[in-house]
Amino acid sequence: MSNYFSRVLPFLLIFHIILASCADQRLQVYIVYLGEHSGTKTFQEIEDFHRSYLHSVKGNSKEEAKDSLIYSYKNVINGFSALLSPEEAAKISEIDGVISVFHSHPTISRLHTTRSWDFINLLEGIGDPNPPNAQDLLSKANYGKDVIVGVLDSGVWPESESFNDNGMDPVPQSWKGICQNGVAFNSTHCNRKLIGARYYLKSYEAYYGPLNTRLDFRSPRDINGHGTHTSSTIGGRRVPNASSIGGFGSGTATGGAPLARLAIYKVCWPIPGQTPAEGNTCLDDDMLAAFDDAIADGVHVISVSIGGNTSRPYTNDGIAIGALHALKRNIVVACSAGNSGPTTYSVSNVAPWIMTVGASSIDRMFSSPIVLGNDMIIKGQSVTPFGNRTYPLVYAADVEIPGTTTNFTRGLCLRGTLSPALVRGKAVFCWRGGTFETLEVQRAGGVATVLGNTHEGRGVLGSPYLIPASVVYFNKSDIFNYIETNQNPNVTLIQPKTLIGTKPDPFMAPFTSRGPSAIEPNILKPDITAPGLNILAAWSEAASPLNVPSDNRVVKYQIDSGTSMSCPHIAAIVVLLKAIHPHWSSAAIRSAMMTTAKITNNLGMQIRDSQGNIAGPFEYGAGTSGHRELLIPDLFMMLSYVPLQ
Ligand SMILES: *[C@@H]1O[C@H](CO)[C@@H](O)[C@H](O)[C@H]1NC(C)=O
Ligand SMILES: *[C@@H]1O[C@H](CO)[C@@H](O)[C@H](O)[C@H]1NC(C)=O
Ligand SMILES: *[C@@H]1O[C@H](CO)[C@@H](O)[C@H](O)[C@H]1NC(C)=O
Ligand SMILES: *[C@@H]1O[C@H](CO)[C@@H](O)[C@H](O)[C@H]1NC(C)=O
Ligand SMILES: *[C@@H]1O[C@H](CO)[C@@H](O)[C@H](O)[C@H]1NC(C)=O
Ligand SMILES: *[C@@H]1O[C@H](CO)[C@@H](O)[C@H](O)[C@H]1NC(C)=O
Ligand SMILES: *[C@@H]1O[C@H](CO)[C@@H](O)[C@H](O)[C@H]1NC(C)=O
Repeated sequence: MSNYFSRVLPFLLIFHIILASCADQRLQVYIVYLGEHSGTKTFQEIEDFHRSYLHSVKGNSKEEAKDSLIYSYKNVINGFSALLSPEEAAKISEIDGVISVFHSHPTISRLHTTRSWDFINLLEGIGDPNPPNAQDLLSKANYGKDVIVGVLDSGVWPESESFNDNGMDPVPQSWKGICQNGVAFNSTHCNRKLIGARYYLKSYEAYYGPLNTRLDFRSPRDINGHGTHTSSTIGGRRVPNASSIGGFGSGTATGGAPLARLAIYKVCWPIPGQTPAEGNTCLDDDMLAAFDDAIADGVHVISVSIGGNTSRPYTNDGIAIGALHALKRNIVVACSAGNSGPTTYSVSNVAPWIMTVGASSIDRMFSSPIVLGNDMIIKGQSVTPFGNRTYPLVYAADVEIPGTTTNFTRGLCLRGTLSPALVRGKAVFCWRGGTFETLEVQRAGGVATVLGNTHEGRGVLGSPYLIPASVVYFNKSDIFNYIETNQNPNVTLIQPKTLIGTKPDPFMAPFTSRGPSAIEPNILKPDITAPGLNILAAWSEAASPLNVPSDNRVVKYQIDSGTSMSCPHIAAIVVLLKAIHPHWSSAAIRSAMMTTAKITNNLGMQIRDSQGNIAGPFEYGAGTSGHRELLIPDLFMMLSYVPLQ
């Protein structure tokens, strides 16, 4: 089961070990974590102090000690990263005062809106029969005005309408951040909405070698789309008439806190030799540097839709360490729970001081049934624009090039497996695996694809494919029976349409990582769930919708799925609470959200998973947040919160 899902689910937070690209193969990037600065040393004294550790293990070779230092964390977090041999790392770990010494791991992640906010019902609901009154959270919070959110991700596409600053007040005086110059990015790209932007790739380059400038911008600019999506989900302005290709999910796109200020910390970069669709990599010490800056810059909330190895101890985990120092300054940190479900123990970012966010559905689907030649209708969904049309139908496993597949890969439409002679002009039924089935069908001359979802139920991820394609999720065996018993089987794909107000919702997304925590099973994780299935938000115009070279379409808004999409929803609710209660501690905010969370769906029943089974706290944590109860102050009166500082 676990292997099967790791193979078929596209939005993975996979963990890889790749050899360092340093000249000396024995040298690897280690982080030496020393705790927190006392605040009495100058930056120069701190760096000299960090270098003294290197001198102590690298002997008299001052030059080597000098070259090996990558980051010296000077603001808040005390520590540094450097190229060390395993022996040197071991020696440093024995020095008094060293808390931990660990490899800077690359977190390879398929990094990890309109309707979602209406569904959460924070907004004056478009289509909501019982719209919240003017006292709703959003207006009380003044739309998040003057709360600053740091987003650690793949950067930002600053030209997006979602980041316009029309009518916004000047940047808060407390802000100490910068707008870092780089390729196709300078201070003119920041404004009163996008108030800060920095990028971090020293560790990336120590690990993978110099950035290939054809694959990414050496600047905060986003070539992937992910960072633009997450940051616009948190703080995007209201943009009327936004929709993905083909008009799916059209409506007013808005972030959860449309007047919040955004500060972008780009920490994720392309993996050499892979398309952005396959993944992105974010290194621990680059992320720690971003945390250290974000804290010093004056952010109030940090959103991190990145995750890695689920069983690393907190002291060896850059996100956990960064989040701890943030928490100590009352900065709330929300992180994605991961996309490795439905296996148990798959939840990541489990440190108790992190808000760990699972993913669930909203009350919307993109209905696109198929009709077999025998008139049987099978439910499907699609966000690819196409009209009704009938095609001859084949099953991928029957039209493969002999020898290109095994028992485990038959029917998956993997690259190079389909025979053009047998596929040309036809619709191909493939099992839905990665992102590439439709591309293989297209390569072999096929004209449409029916994708069989590997599990039952509405938990289908929408992608805007290049050829007509629908993902079917019930009664898949009927398709085989029909193909087998007919000489010239055919299928009609029905033009997709957006349906709103579907029930029951929310249900847990099939991919959302499940508890318990592999590190500390006694602490319930995830904490909470939020919309993460087929969420519309802004996209990078340098990325295509499918993020593969053969796709050169440009879109301003895009539908994407993952706990990467749910985490920014929670970050936005944190922003609103922070705006109403600036003195509440991180713990108070987390507690308020968790104690008002709901575990019921829009039928008034307990939230289920995508297959209809009752879900539990290891899936949704405390439940869904953002309900009106958050506004009832009595709920919190028994707790007199003392801010940490
Ligand atoms: C900043 O970027 C803008 C837009 O790309 C460009 O017109 C301008 O010359 C740049 N300014 C500097 C100082 O590089
Ligand atoms: C949205 O698009 C529709 C149709 O294209 C148009 O009639 C309408 O005026 C647009 N609304 C806004 C606010 O731009
Ligand atoms: C995850 O971290 C644990 C603890 O550090 C380690 O033992 C394990 O090998 C790691 N797993 C992977 C896949 O790297
Ligand atoms: C599709 O197949 C059915 C039989 O399965 C046949 O009756 C029908 O005419 C076919 N339709 C087209 C458009 O070929
Ligand atoms: C496509 O088929 C569906 C279902 O039969 C029908 O409701 C719809 O009107 C058709 N669309 C067009 C453009 O013919
Ligand atoms: C593949 O499946 C066939 C038919 O089910 C079976 O006979 C064969 O042993 C399988 N091969 C492997 C390598 O599992
Ligand atoms: C599956 O097919 C059976 C008949 O073969 C039908 O009764 C049932 O309603 C179908 N289920 C769905 C969800 O379409």
